[in-house]
Amino acid sequence: MRVLIAGGAGYIGSHTVVQLVAAGHEVVVVDNFSNSKPTVVGRLESLTGTPLEVHAFDLTDRDKVESLFAARSFDAVIHFGGFKAVGESVEVPLEYYQNNLDSTFSLVRAMQRHGCFRLVFSSSATVYGENPPVPMKEELPTSATNPYGWTKVMIEQVLRDVAATDERWRIGLLRYFNPVGAHASGTIGEDPQGIPNNLMPYIAQVAVGKLEKLSVFGDDYDTPDGTALRDYIHVEDLAAGHLAALTRLGSTDERVSTWNLGTGHGTSVLEVLHAFERACGHELPYEVVARRSGDIAASYADPSRAERELGWKATRTIDDICADQWRWQRGNPLGYPD
Ligand code: WQD
Repeated sequence: MRVLIAGGAGYIGSHTVVQLVAAGHEVVVVDNFSNSKPTVVGRLESLTGTPLEVHAFDLTDRDKVESLFAARSFDAVIHFGGFKAVGESVEVPLEYYQNNLDSTFSLVRAMQRHGCFRLVFSSSATVYGENPPVPMKEELPTSATNPYGWTKVMIEQVLRDVAATDERWRIGLLRYFNPVGAHASGTIGEDPQGIPNNLMPYIAQVAVGKLEKLSVFGDDYDTPDGTALRDYIHVEDLAAGHLAALTRLGSTDERVSTWNLGTGHGTSVLEVLHAFERACGHELPYEVVARRSGDIAASYADPSRAERELGWKATRTIDDICADQWRWQRGNPLGYPD
């Protein structure tokens, strides 16, 4: 299939590009490089062994999106494009609502006009809202505790309402848990701008000496070691889930399907830290500090629907994740060069 990857130069998008090409799909990328660097394109071409067609523009530019669909017919779209920092979304909510919703509107309008009805959308476990029961199941009601999460809740609803207007739609909503890790080659990975908000890249930068120590946000949770549990899923397992969803949409009668992409178990902050020590071969300094506002004690998936319907299961362990993350961090201590 010819697949348009919206946000294909980003962290999860780039890993998905590699797996799509390896599976024989033709890939076209559109990315505005607001949260990724053009350097990634060359690395993707090296990994795939083939030139990559990339269109560098903003998905909220309806005319450009329309022109792309007028010039190329696509069999499917995978939509990764969007802002994704929880804290930033609280500071600049209008930017998040406009960017994440408008980019989706542009894409879906162009898809409708040009007869492309197969869409995989990058959603998030954040749509399960505050303190949902674990393991989280897709049937749970959705809500959010920050503007970023609300954009995901709203876009899921927009897509369900659009699907109701035309029986040709086949939409997969993929709810990611905590994407981590990097391609085994060490040449592509997460490249956060500034000081990382997320645990794994922060630990990796402590390990490489870029940051002094990890602040553990609370050790008084009702968990085995007192630190919070999360479902850390390797980005390669996540990319494989996108391929499986794309294939499934070609055979299902459901207009909209929702799948959790997670491992199904929770790993604590300290367990991640110690796994990273095993990967990097030295102790990592940390200090327990106050809880971060908005954090919940435990978040992990019930991935049984994806396992049953997609024939997909996350296979990589926290040690695999830390080994790959460390190889990426060590090889690219400053992230991708500009
Ligand atoms: C993980 C755990 C922190 C940093 C977020 C978004 C979610 C999704 C994934 C987009 C928590 C602890 C962290 C640190 C720490 N993003 N921690 N010290 O908050 O589970 O999820 O990223 O879809 O929407 O909410 O991920 O990596 O920030 O935190 O102790 O310096 O690590 O308290 O328990 P989170 P995280």
